[in-house]
Amino acid sequence: MKAIVYHEYGSPDVLKLEEVDMPTPKDDEVLIKVHAVSINGSDREGLIGKPFYARLGGLRKPGYPILGSDIAGRVEMAGRNIRDFQPGDEVFGEVPGYHGGFAEYVCASEKTLARKPVSMTFEEAAAIPQAGVIALQGIREKGKVQPGQTVLINGAGGSAGSFAIQLAKYYGAEVTGVDNTGKLDFMRSLGADHVIDHTRQNFTKIGKQYDLILDVIAHRSAFAYARALKPNGTYFCVGGSVTTLFQVLLLGPWIKRTTGKNIRLLVVPQNRKDLLSITELCEAGKIVPVIDRRYPLSDVPEALRYVAEGRAKGKVVIEILKG
Ligand SMILES: NC(=O)c1ccc[n+]([C@@H]2O[C@H](COP(=O)([O-])OP(=O)(O)OC[C@H]3O[C@@H](n4cnc5c(N)ncnc54)[C@H](OP(=O)(O)O)[C@@H]3O)[C@@H](O)[C@H]2O)c1
Repeated sequence: MKAIVYHEYGSPDVLKLEEVDMPTPKDDEVLIKVHAVSINGSDREGLIGKPFYARLGGLRKPGYPILGSDIAGRVEMAGRNIRDFQPGDEVFGEVPGYHGGFAEYVCASEKTLARKPVSMTFEEAAAIPQAGVIALQGIREKGKVQPGQTVLINGAGGSAGSFAIQLAKYYGAEVTGVDNTGKLDFMRSLGADHVIDHTRQNFTKIGKQYDLILDVIAHRSAFAYARALKPNGTYFCVGGSVTTLFQVLLLGPWIKRTTGKNIRLLVVPQNRKDLLSITELCEAGKIVPVIDRRYPLSDVPEALRYVAEGRAKGKVVIEILKG
């Protein structure tokens, strides 16, 4: 099969279109013919090997040579323990380990897959999984956003952020989106009441406080985030610098004891239940998976370059098989 392969961490130039062996499904996996795969922040991190957690699979070189985690396609073959799917089913979801999707075929566990809604294209379905589930967990499940609350989303113009703005608005919050200059109008178009350009302003220093901060690109100190929270407010760190992640882990409990503010990591397990919940909202038209650009498989390097240049608004999708 054809796949986009890399053997060293680096820029999109290290990605090559190659012929590789088809994967073989284990007993508890299905083999999927991939129709579409979307790009997430985790692909960008996996490509460059930064932050450090992106190297957990391979310290010096990538542990797995194919990136791509959010796929939609058709089941080609089912392992002997598979109960929920059979060949021919249209499915979508996350690939465990966040890799393997930039290819014509991929194997995935049935636990993180769901049936693709008939009303959705493969591209729309592939845009949802990781980003949608992070937003659902951050805003609704763990964030428990209530009408009238103030919510700030840092990195709001990207994959998870584009879902999070819409969800927070849907649940009645007053939403502030933070991202680069080129994404301010985009965040407003998704419903953000206020936008902050991170290249001009540091949201932790403008004197405003929020009930909930969802941060997909954390890089400041835990104390800075605490300063931007209302009493009893919550800060969730989803991804970002390892220094900040450790600070949140180590200082979070102390900040809670001394100020009452919650500074936590948001761990988002890949799972079917949340995938179905966020997809229901998409099917009902309450949330829209926003696809900025589509590229063919051979242009994954170009697509990741577009993302790395800070231009992608919402999701970028790779169309492997059209229709
Ligand atoms: N916690 C968990 O269990 C879990 C699970 C899965 C994934 N993750 C992590 O979740 C994160 C998900 O990110 P994503 O897919 O939404 O990424 P994304 O699509 O790359 O979006 C990140 C957004 O943040 C913007 N940004 C960059 N620097 C910024 C700054 N200093 N201030 C404000 N915004 C800034 C980016 O703009 P530019 O385009 O200018 O860079 C981009 O719009 C990744 O770190 C991933 O590893 C966590």
